[in-house]
Amino acid sequence: MGHELKFMKILVIGGGGREHALVWKLAQSPRVTGLYCAPGNAGIGRHATCVPLSATDLPGLQTFAQEKAIDLTVVGPEAPLALGIADLFRRSKLKIFGPTRNAAKIEASKSFAKNLMVRQGIPTAESRTFDGVGPAFTYIENRTPPVVVKADGLAQGKGVVVAGTRQEARDAVSRMLEHQALGEAGRQVVIEEYLQGEELTLMAFVDGKTVVPMLAAQDHKRIGEGDTGSNTGGMGAYAPAPLATPALRDEIMRNVLQPAVEGLSRLGSPFYGVLYAGLMVKDGTPYVLEFNARFGDPETQVVLPLLNTDLLDVLEAVVDHRLDQIHLEWSEQSAVCVVMASGGYPGRSTSGVPITGLPSPRLDHAAVFHAGTALKCHDVVTAGGRVLGVTAWGPSLKTAHDRAYEVAKPIKFAGQYFRTDIAGRALAERNG
Ligand code: AMP
Ligand code: GLY
Repeated sequence: MGHELKFMKILVIGGGGREHALVWKLAQSPRVTGLYCAPGNAGIGRHATCVPLSATDLPGLQTFAQEKAIDLTVVGPEAPLALGIADLFRRSKLKIFGPTRNAAKIEASKSFAKNLMVRQGIPTAESRTFDGVGPAFTYIENRTPPVVVKADGLAQGKGVVVAGTRQEARDAVSRMLEHQALGEAGRQVVIEEYLQGEELTLMAFVDGKTVVPMLAAQDHKRIGEGDTGSNTGGMGAYAPAPLATPALRDEIMRNVLQPAVEGLSRLGSPFYGVLYAGLMVKDGTPYVLEFNARFGDPETQVVLPLLNTDLLDVLEAVVDHRLDQIHLEWSEQSAVCVVMASGGYPGRSTSGVPITGLPSPRLDHAAVFHAGTALKCHDVVTAGGRVLGVTAWGPSLKTAHDRAYEVAKPIKFAGQYFRTDIAGRALAERNG
């Protein structure tokens, strides 16, 4: 932009594939002079200094940011936002990218999000909120299955049950409300209408007022091939999603993102950060399944490699409320991310398993983002359910797809699992 470069020290909070993509992108900025990540992981450690602080250790993170004179903190996951990290940092005059606790309720409380959507006329599944089993059962009796039962609070992807029968719906309700299987998150449940269609993610940068959308992406949430089996944190993604025509993106901006941002401002809780709309496109109309108050994972792993603008310029414009001055430049390419997971995921999975066949970190057209890894005596080992996000890009979705699976091929760890059909539907539709 011609003005003098302002150099900055950055702290990224989190330690998954999303944070690796953020750190990888920020490391490309000529303005970043120091890059830290708390807690980070083995892959992140190649671009940033990992700090052994948990993402929810708010006082520890605040002290670290003050001691290191961090110029900007970027929050990856939802948990610290829901705990109020942005409020704490702002009170201490520390710049932070992420919404306040009140604005983050759009993700942390499904009933809050539903009320906001109804008030703002945002299309979403019809729903009711319950804190007692009796009224919830009566409601289920009067609905035709399938119905969707959702825990009100944050449940790491385990809070949503698509119930094919009334019995399944009642079981989900009693697990959450009576047996407190999800703890505090399941003290209230939202029961909603089942929507059939195609899922789409549209994330946008928001500075309280201006909304700047990213490329639309599609995430594969189910564990099994052909989008079957249990929900996970996400088994792969691709961008841009061909489903998102310019007209559909405009409609999502106009009918979903902008009214949500206006609604939060009206409540006195303006939103700063990334607003994520998880949508179901039914007969061409986008309905909101959920909002998230942060970058999506794995969507971020396919969206950021396609961003040509310096990410730091964008994050800073959000924090300084001058997003209206930013124009995002996107590559014309497509990207595909294949998540490699540990056996047993999304249930209990093993950790500490050695990973072999990792490519050199300096790949052309690809990056292996680490989601759950650690270093054990200089060897990279697994550390969690989702282990790696093998991401590649190219001039077509097909090239990106083929490259991602090629990079994944030599990577081995005992019990590894990945889906072989990421972006499959979009590729088939293109050909057919
Ligand atoms: P959520 O965390 O609310 O996005 O829900 C997780 C997943 O459950 C979504 O990605 C959908 O696949 C599915 N889902 C949620 N709500 C609905 C709905 N109303 N109709 C159909 N599927 C849904
Ligand atoms: N990909 C879904 C999420 O980030 O919540």
